[in-house]
Amino acid sequence: MATTSELADRYLMQTGRRLPVTFVRGRGCVVYDDAGREYLDLVAGIAVNLLGHAHPDVVAAVSKQAGELIHTSNLYFTQPQVELAQRLVELSFPSRVFFCNSGAEANEAAIKLARKWGAKNRDGAFEIITTTGSFHGRTLATVTAGGQHKYSDPFKPLPGGFVHVRYNDFDAIESATTQRTVAVMLEPVMGEIGIIPAAPGYLQRVREWCDEKNLLLILDEVQTGLGRTGRWFAHQHAGITPDVMTLAKGLGGGIPIGACLANPRADVFEPGDHGSTFGGNPLACAAASTVLHVIERDALVGHAAEMGELLHSSIQDLGAKEVRGLGLMQAFEFEEAKAKPFQQSCLEAGLIVNAVDDHTVRLVPPLILTATEIERAHGVLAKVAR
Ligand SMILES: Cc1ncc(COP(=O)(O)O)c(C=O)c1O
Repeated sequence: MATTSELADRYLMQTGRRLPVTFVRGRGCVVYDDAGREYLDLVAGIAVNLLGHAHPDVVAAVSKQAGELIHTSNLYFTQPQVELAQRLVELSFPSRVFFCNSGAEANEAAIKLARKWGAKNRDGAFEIITTTGSFHGRTLATVTAGGQHKYSDPFKPLPGGFVHVRYNDFDAIESATTQRTVAVMLEPVMGEIGIIPAAPGYLQRVREWCDEKNLLLILDEVQTGLGRTGRWFAHQHAGITPDVMTLAKGLGGGIPIGACLANPRADVFEPGDHGSTFGGNPLACAAASTVLHVIERDALVGHAAEMGELLHSSIQDLGAKEVRGLGLMQAFEFEEAKAKPFQQSCLEAGLIVNAVDDHTVRLVPPLILTATEIERAHGVLAKVAR
């Protein structure tokens, strides 16, 4: 009989390389493979499972909603969608919400919003300044926005209207700004490239610049949002608010959902401008409202800050040349090109970590991670690093 990996080779498009494991169930920060082996999960479906696996409140909310109403389209009102929008706005900044199904779609919405805003308010300005090495998704516009050639070059010609500058270099944003510029789009901590936090003062200066030049500030909080960095949203560390913020990943506790929030200045969409068949369906919204409720009820934002510090200090002794991160978004970078074999050895020892490239290992565990689990993870990391 063919194995799952053989069937995957035969039937799935080979868009990415998978690690040699097939997961079948999980609970909390632990997942099990098809041979019943247990793994401690410090990746959480790439920063998605904020409440871990099979969280009882999420399971109950999804089951209840599935038994009532899963999908209606956005031709009609549904209560879970407006409830979720209200809660997100209360937690963030005065704004309105567009729901979609992924981070890339949330960023597409933000890009379209900026283009329309520029047409209306900045004489047709359309260019968005983004940063080299950022990651905003895999649609044609978002790979172009991301400024990582490996993701965009095979798909040329790429859409125009994106200008790339170095991250954490405010002067580069200043120099790149022209009459055509409509927005600056940034990750408050660059995630996919290997956890690069914004330098102190960077986001504040960009906010001031956007105010001075009448540009929109778009923050991609797809990975950093919802408690991950030890604040509800990473921009809160900098004491600023964006005009537009995108969310996805952890929002639905594993159920696909994305969101684009825009303040009244930026909120220029009118009926017919944008849409999504599945976006904000009752099932995803019920899951997301429950995720927000549990994060709040169980004080998981503060917990993430505390566990983040513990995790950060626990990974100092792995022989890495740099350890960096914010909250439960941490990475360590080796001088040698050994991140991939390191990831494989951890997997074999029952620990899930993520090698983002040949040198850097990323840890984005569930927010419910405990000190005991950090100790257990460290035991494996230290052994593998030796
Ligand atoms: C900051 C950021 N933006 C956007 C995305 C794309 O999200 P999705 O894969 O849900 O389209 C990601 C995914 O890693 C991300 O980290």
